[in-house]
Amino acid sequence: MKFFLDTANIEEIKRINALGLVDGVTTNPTIIAREGRDFKEVVKEICSIVKGPVSAEVIGLDTESMVKEARELATWAENIVVKIPMTEAGLKAVNILSKEGIKTNVTLIFSVAQGLLAAKAGATYVSPFVGRLDDIATDGVEMVAQLKHVLSSYGLKSEIIAASIRSLAHVEETAAVGADIATIPGDLFPKLWAHPLTDKGIDQFMKDWEGFQKNK
Ligand code: E4P
Repeated sequence: MKFFLDTANIEEIKRINALGLVDGVTTNPTIIAREGRDFKEVVKEICSIVKGPVSAEVIGLDTESMVKEARELATWAENIVVKIPMTEAGLKAVNILSKEGIKTNVTLIFSVAQGLLAAKAGATYVSPFVGRLDDIATDGVEMVAQLKHVLSSYGLKSEIIAASIRSLAHVEETAAVGADIATIPGDLFPKLWAHPLTDKGIDQFMKDWEGFQKNK
């Protein structure tokens, strides 16, 4: 499974990227607004730190605006992926952009049908929102599992990004059902390596080693 970071916070990106574990970054208007910085400046900075795909979202809601914004975004860096919302206008834009070789990430996917349409339209990535489905008492992980099965069955090439990840369990469970990528918030990522029994084990090893040194 590839790991993307779901943040525009430069400190979080640098910290986790230094571990060699970051395959890409996703942003959305909410994530960018949280940083209180210029959109272009922050996206270009992220693209210079992380070599993998960096998703930046269009704001326009009609096909013409989306395509215009996407063409502009694609000039900012080689690793830009244009995030397009899952709408009729968005599908049309993805179809146009995929023919121009501009990579797209279709966002706000909440059903297998939406994921299938986005993949057929030529999306490079499709982003089912696991956490937001769980919020409305719908099994987000199960939806990812079904979408994976459907895309694989028909040989569709779009990669599935498990998005709206809220917990360690979401990462583990979407990995288990074959999501190609999980995009993980910066503050959640450290929970992937932390475990109380690891800390307890280290403490015990240190105590035993110190006792052994004293009694030598
Ligand atoms: C990433 O592509 C999505 O925009 C993000 O994961 C949404 O997460 P949220 O549902 O926690 O806002």
